[in-house]
Amino acid sequence: MDKLIINGGNKLYGDVQISGAKNAVLPIMTATLIVPGNYKINNVPDLRDTRTMIQLLKIIGSNVQYSNNTLLIDTKECNNPHAPYDLVKTMRASFYVLGPLLARFHESKVSLPGGCAWGPRPVDFHIKALREMKVDIRLDKGDIIAKGQPQGNKIHFTKKSVGATGNILMAATRANGVTTISNAAMEPEIVSLCHFLQKLGANIEGIGTEVLIISPIEIQNNSFEFDIIPDRIEAGTFMLAVAATGGKIKLKNVNIEHLESVIDHLNKINITTNLDGNDISIESDGEYEAIDMETLEFPGFPTDLQAQWMAVMLKAKGNCVIKENIYHDRFTHISELSRMGADISLKNNIAYIKGVHEIYSAPVMCTDIRASAGLIIAALCSKGETEISRIYHIDRGYDGIENKLTSIGANIRRIKS
Ligand code: UD1
Repeated sequence: MDKLIINGGNKLYGDVQISGAKNAVLPIMTATLIVPGNYKINNVPDLRDTRTMIQLLKIIGSNVQYSNNTLLIDTKECNNPHAPYDLVKTMRASFYVLGPLLARFHESKVSLPGGCAWGPRPVDFHIKALREMKVDIRLDKGDIIAKGQPQGNKIHFTKKSVGATGNILMAATRANGVTTISNAAMEPEIVSLCHFLQKLGANIEGIGTEVLIISPIEIQNNSFEFDIIPDRIEAGTFMLAVAATGGKIKLKNVNIEHLESVIDHLNKINITTNLDGNDISIESDGEYEAIDMETLEFPGFPTDLQAQWMAVMLKAKGNCVIKENIYHDRFTHISELSRMGADISLKNNIAYIKGVHEIYSAPVMCTDIRASAGLIIAALCSKGETEISRIYHIDRGYDGIENKLTSIGANIRRIKS
């Protein structure tokens, strides 16, 4: 397994091109299954997860080509509505095929995802909503067997869920009748999925709000081109990295509106941000006060940047708390950060952080995609050489992270094994 070796202490200077958003491209790739056709998708990040999704689309019968960040997907010959455990267990987002397969074939067999590194991640909202759409669902040997054309209905989620909103949106595009989703997720990736589904032929009202009304697609085939939005989590990770190390970087190809809560938090600790169209510059001297933060659904501070924010707060002046409201157990990075000298205690879903003068290098291991990014930020600020193992987690969600960091002055290298 590959490792990253980081010699901390360098300030970061230069420009970084932000890639397309992982969490936007994955559901959109599955949405190409809904209507047989040829789809060209641009700005696709080169990630383990996009490659896993390509494999899954091929198993279902799609013809997929991927080069130069462009995907060509032909879904005309698809005939196997089955997502096997081998793929679903390596990437939970595979579960996104459930809605599209039901939409197209009125049947599907999708392995039930298990837990993950940050605790149980149920799919009960997806299943309850599909049952309310009169889909027959049963569990057989770990697979969800779903049958029947979804019927339009009024679906209410008791809690906002990105995945359940996406799956039900896609099932609804070929439902019999109109579907209304209330308390829908409002994340930019859901907005982008809605735009793709509109191009596919669905009529969707309320895009970007918590009530979505979906009228089904009438056409039988389609073909078009679509651009993936910039990855706000990758952008946020680089913003937080330079806040912690000090320096000045410009991020190119970002959507500022997707990053407002991160910018607000950085401004509160006196880190300068300058916005210029699709670019944002961040300047920091690496000295700042601690402030409290809690994760919330969009437009709040994203849970996918919680570990990275924690890494920034390790050496802040004073004490602070981080409250994790989305995934109460998403704290596996704390024990690794503690190995680097962090002073953090955890009570339920609240982490209490006391600022330390120095972060030390230590061998640490990645536990999930974003926890890994937190370890990288801590290592970039530490004294000495840090070895980060199990970096396949990073490769799932960050396109060429060590190349991008090297280009702005970080001392980081990959050891292949
Ligand atoms: C997506 C993102 C992930 C991000 C998360 C929250 C993708 C591929 N992944 O994950 O990076 O961290 O949104 O922004 O886009 N819940 C249930 N039952 C369900 C579904 C969800 O109880 O059936 C709960 C979850 O346990 C969690 C909350 O709802 O507490 C939000 O989860 P959800 O938005 O569904 O996350 P994902 O879509 O899995």
